[in-house]
Amino acid sequence: LKLGVLASGSGSNFEAIAQAIENKELNAVIQVLIYNIPDAKVKERADRWNIPTVFLNHRDYKKREDLDTAIVDILKEYQVEWVIMAGWMRIVTEVLVNAFPNHVINIHPSILPSFKGIHAIEQALQAKVKVTGCTVHLVSVEVDSGLILMQAVVPILSDDTPETLHARIQVQEHRIFPQAIVLAAKLII
Ligand code: GRF
Repeated sequence: LKLGVLASGSGSNFEAIAQAIENKELNAVIQVLIYNIPDAKVKERADRWNIPTVFLNHRDYKKREDLDTAIVDILKEYQVEWVIMAGWMRIVTEVLVNAFPNHVINIHPSILPSFKGIHAIEQALQAKVKVTGCTVHLVSVEVDSGLILMQAVVPILSDDTPETLHARIQVQEHRIFPQAIVLAAKLII
């Protein structure tokens, strides 16, 4: 599988995918990392794995569609088949989704359809639910929707902060994200 990863942050999910490939748990190659925050830690991680990187500043694009057009061009140039959104903190449009139909995968830190959007962890704490988790799903134009590939659940403890809860969720993200990519490749041709 030829993967293109989109990421904005620390890149711990990027790292988990690269490691799963190295361990031969996932038969894939990361063709390129596209990132949009200049000093994002994910860039250093990609350099360490010798994976090509491209920086795109979303502020250079007037419309979301224009940014996505630039992303699609790069992904095609690198012959990407599967688009992996690993902490990509931008809303994507039909420009990206339609360029890779059923081949865009996202990870979200909640048990969807609960707690969509960027404050999923805080919302789970506020709601006082006893469990939350993470979801890997195909991306459709509607935010945090699309076919669910895998989910994992974690407990919420009484003394949790957003940070401690996020750390617990991330352990599960790193476990299920590579597995969900394997599953997607089996389900979707
Ligand atoms: C993850 O928790 C993911 O669920 C959310 O953004 C975070 C990215 O973390 N969408 P990292 O950059 O992979 O460490």
